[in-house]
Amino acid sequence: MNSSTSPTSTPARDQWSAVGDVLVVFGITGDLARVMTFRSLYRLERRGLLDCPIVGVAVDDWTLEQLVKRARDSIIATGEVLDEKVFARFAGRLAYVQGDFGEAATYQRVGEAISGTKHPVFYLEIPPFLFGRVAQGLAEAGLTATARVVVEKPFGHDLESARALAAELHTYLDEAQIYRIDHYLGKMGYEEILYLRFANTILEPLWNRSYVECVEITMAEDFGVEDRGHFYDPVGALRDVVVNHLMQVVAAAAMEPPSGGGPEALRDSAVTLFRSVKAADPEHYVRGQYEGYLDIKGVAEGSTTETYAALRLEIDNWRWAGVPFYIRTGKKLPVTQTELRVVFREPPPVHIGLSGGEDRGPVRDEFVVKLDPSTGARLVVDARRADGPGPEAITLDAEFADEGGEGATPYEVLLHAALIGDSSRFKGQDEVEESWRIMQPLIDNPPAVHPYAPGTWGPAIASTIIADHGGWEGPWIVKPDGASK
Ligand code: BG6
Repeated sequence: MNSSTSPTSTPARDQWSAVGDVLVVFGITGDLARVMTFRSLYRLERRGLLDCPIVGVAVDDWTLEQLVKRARDSIIATGEVLDEKVFARFAGRLAYVQGDFGEAATYQRVGEAISGTKHPVFYLEIPPFLFGRVAQGLAEAGLTATARVVVEKPFGHDLESARALAAELHTYLDEAQIYRIDHYLGKMGYEEILYLRFANTILEPLWNRSYVECVEITMAEDFGVEDRGHFYDPVGALRDVVVNHLMQVVAAAAMEPPSGGGPEALRDSAVTLFRSVKAADPEHYVRGQYEGYLDIKGVAEGSTTETYAALRLEIDNWRWAGVPFYIRTGKKLPVTQTELRVVFREPPPVHIGLSGGEDRGPVRDEFVVKLDPSTGARLVVDARRADGPGPEAITLDAEFADEGGEGATPYEVLLHAALIGDSSRFKGQDEVEESWRIMQPLIDNPPAVHPYAPGTWGPAIASTIIADHGGWEGPWIVKPDGASK
């Protein structure tokens, strides 16, 4: 995107969206870098998309050799087969600055390490309580005028704290300089929802309250909280994945077509949509906790944190009035699978002697976009079959891996977008605040938490919130042998 064509383009904004000439990673010795960042940067290097030095900053007293070794070990641990030539190029970009984030001298050293660069990209892989301090340090060292700053969730723990966090950052940075990561914005499946919707004439005319019965979003994970008890227990499923990732899926499924182009267009459509989502009603919210959760290290005694959440949202606009959006997510469910499922209205009975029995009307059509573990699309239609007594639901499936392969991983997409100044991949503060507004009643008045057995679909009571609309459908599961159901 050429920022000079943006309607909101100003000289300052153009500076902030210029291609970055150095990436500075605060917290490079931490977990996120180990699991995600080194691998993503290495993969960008392999694809020829990395073109600048990388300066790591952390409090640990490391040498550059230690950092390079950590990078190598981390990349290998993620399952990559290391190409030594590519790694040598990547390692050649690395530099390390040791320092306490609370000391001005640290930012002086960062300034020396990046001297001569014009558009630094500062990536804060650090706890949010440090965002303000680091932004202040960078600003006071004169490093932010033409920079942008990338931050990681959580963006507050409710509406009020989200506002406070933004106010702190805005003391030192313009909103246009802040790139908030929600890795769902880097998922291929997220893009597919938008593209399939708006680029296919057969979909868009049906995508509204006249034809859609309800929309279901399922994010199931077959693993538990494991060693993340300290992080997860004060957070829970609603804050961990619903208010951010799954609201992003709601936005992609429900927004109006972005208009006008430019990096703001998509974000504007998402915010407009969020504004028409009613605040969620605790009456339509079910919380669950898997049995055994309380034994995890870091989980408070008698904790009532939810590891499962199911809820209903309503959208008060012309396209969606009367169409419920159901969301469910949980840890220790039977599978790991994320999908968006649009369920169309039931057609009337078919009087052509083919309906397969007196009491069988055609089943509802469904359109599914699978986001994880791989990207795919499925159409469920009612059709005549030769191998049975009558018609049945059949599935028309496309696995995108078979149609040109899976795209880049979300962090590759996002780090690259941060480096080239593509702000459309990041969340604005207005989106963050709207999402919290929608969820706030559920935070203020949480219903009791119900236990569920690991390996099940959460507490049985979760089916009540969707009972009026035929119960939860799916998810579409692709088995290891390629068969799907
Ligand atoms: C993270 C959450 O943001 O997203 C995790 O903290 C969750 O709890 C993860 O497992 C899911 O992301 P993905 O891309 O693996 O579906």
